[in-house]
Amino acid sequence: MSTLETTGTALAGTSLFTPITVGLNQLANRVVLAPLTRMRSSEGGVPNDLMAEYYSQRATPGALLIAEATLVSPNGHAYAGAPGILNEEQLEGWKKVVNAVHDKGAIIFLQLFHGGRQSHQDLQPDGGVPIGPSAIPHNNLVCTEDGWVPATQNREATIEEIHSIVDDFHAAANRAKQAGFDGIELHGANGYLIDQFLQDGSNQRTDEYGGSIENRVRLLTQVVSRMVDVYGADSVGVRLGPSGRWGEMSDSNPLELFTYAVEQLDKFGLAYLHLIEPRVFGNVDRDDLVEPVAAVQLRKVFHGPIIAAGGFNGQGAADIIGRGDADLVAFGRYYVANPDLVRRLREGLPLNPYDRSSFFGGTEVGCTDYPFYSNNAELV
Ligand SMILES: Cc1cc2nc3c(=O)[nH]c(=O)nc-3n(C[C@H](O)[C@H](O)[C@H](O)COP(=O)(O)O)c2cc1C
Repeated sequence: MSTLETTGTALAGTSLFTPITVGLNQLANRVVLAPLTRMRSSEGGVPNDLMAEYYSQRATPGALLIAEATLVSPNGHAYAGAPGILNEEQLEGWKKVVNAVHDKGAIIFLQLFHGGRQSHQDLQPDGGVPIGPSAIPHNNLVCTEDGWVPATQNREATIEEIHSIVDDFHAAANRAKQAGFDGIELHGANGYLIDQFLQDGSNQRTDEYGGSIENRVRLLTQVVSRMVDVYGADSVGVRLGPSGRWGEMSDSNPLELFTYAVEQLDKFGLAYLHLIEPRVFGNVDRDDLVEPVAAVQLRKVFHGPIIAAGGFNGQGAADIIGRGDADLVAFGRYYVANPDLVRRLREGLPLNPYDRSSFFGGTEVGCTDYPFYSNNAELV
């Protein structure tokens, strides 16, 4: 993604608070809660009351929330404390979250993911070797029960294992539906399994899942197709990170790859495409390239709503929407720190600063204890 140009089609005066239809949902505003792993699920990856309270705090009438990356396969673990949607207990835990959010009149999608090679033997069933598209060593750290440790060596997934993972996404979609989620999002970014298959720095397979761009996009579209079978295309979104390098991702021609991938996704008529702009490395701001370009570029080939994410504040979000280069903006770190972010953006109120040390794991501290606005709130 290197060309910066404006292809905006927004009507004059479109703002963060202009209502919009996304799939079957009428949204009151375009401020989206980004999927945010908080690693606070209970033993066995079961969603709990703390999580219900956290999401409920951020729910406002007609707002879209995307719940954190949630495991679909036992061998998909990428960090300790992540919730799953693999079994009845987890499903029941998610119902509490969904009900709490619906009680506030908000809409909630669940992000489904498989970590692939971003894992560690300690996170695998029976201490197994994590799978990826190809057995390529990488230097990422993984959060296990012992803290952040180097990922262990991975191995190439067999065709049977790939097919089984596609089935896992289908089963997870069914459980998400039973739990009451309004929709589901596929995590195709941030160096996890789907992204690992897309980019040729991590995918060096020689079968139908590797080599050509068409082959590398195959897993993405197979999974989306099975998710759509359960929910219908208008309740399925996909998140991609066309410029993402987190997880030691690299591709020899990202523009061609992601343009083709998005052309394929466009054929489904999805609820939305969610793009991480090249303004963040993981969740740390980049200062080498600050213009949002992913949404601009891929707008040409995707005809549904686009959510842009990555390094936005209220002004940046208003700008990209005003230009028509994205339809909605997902906020991550500021939504962690500001449960009433929608109100603060609408009224131009100052934002609470976020505390990075409590992002991942822990208690209610840094989760549900950020203050709602009052006149003495600290200015960022
Ligand atoms: C604590 C934390 C957890 C995150 N977890 C996820 C996740 O589960 N799924 C995902 O796609 N992105 C995840 N991200 C990335 C965010 O969704 C978002 O793209 C990133 O923070 C940049 O947006 P921001 O500048 O508004 O924070 C996470 C980021 C943070 C800070």
